[in-house]
Amino acid sequence: MDLYELQDVSKVFDQGRKKVRALHGVALKIQAGERIAIQGSTGGGKSTLLQLLGLLDEPTTGTIWFEGQKLAGLNEAARAALRASRIGFIFQSYNLIPTLAAEENVLAGLMPLGWPADQRRKAVEEVLAAVGLTDRARHLPAELSGGQQQRVAIARALVKRPSVVLADEPTGNLDEETRDEIADMMDALCSEHSLTMITVTHDSALAKRASRRLTIKAGKLTVG
Ligand SMILES: Nc1ncnc2c1ncn2[C@@H]1O[C@H](COP(=O)(O)OP(=O)(O)OP(=O)(O)O)[C@@H](O)[C@H]1O
Ligand SMILES: [Mg+2]
Repeated sequence: MDLYELQDVSKVFDQGRKKVRALHGVALKIQAGERIAIQGSTGGGKSTLLQLLGLLDEPTTGTIWFEGQKLAGLNEAARAALRASRIGFIFQSYNLIPTLAAEENVLAGLMPLGWPADQRRKAVEEVLAAVGLTDRARHLPAELSGGQQQRVAIARALVKRPSVVLADEPTGNLDEETRDEIADMMDALCSEHSLTMITVTHDSALAKRASRRLTIKAGKLTVG
């Protein structure tokens, strides 16, 4: 079974008289465990595609299957439940909650799931250790470096043991050395947990690590 299948997917943003066609006739299959890089010039439709893969938005036309399920048949509650349990998100700007300590930000990734408290605590501890932040668990985001903040965001995405991680420019705010560190860590964690990783990036050093590279130009997907 494919993790994702997209058939003839298009997305049109309708802003009154002006229609923006962000994706056009996208066909794509992604197997579990793949590492996909999505590249392409600005405005090409990369983030739009990631939003669709993350069940954050729906296509205008076309069909998407996720883990064998046709998404068009699901109501918003079912989509939210899938998103909360199966999909981890990582963004360029970390998106941490500034008033919460690192461990509480990670815990936030588990809150919709209704796990028992001791299981939550154990999972948070384990994932913070995996990203090398055990000694920063009580720090607020403002007390952490950019690379450390992104480690917290990665921990938050992984703590629920998702089947796929969607990352939009995850190292865009980091210097090259920190980028390599973070990328090494994500690669190791993905291998360890057989995770599928789909990364949008302008950075060809990061894209080179993928097992498959896709390019989106003016809403159309090409391989390579
Ligand atoms: N919510 C929206 N409403 C209207 N137009 C949108 C919306 N989101 C995206 N678009 C338009 O869709 C097109 C694709 O945008 P998208 O954000 O997917 O590009 P991108 O490839 O991620 O670009 P970048 O590399 O700059 O992040 C752009 O023309 C953009 O202006
Ligand atoms: Mg984008």
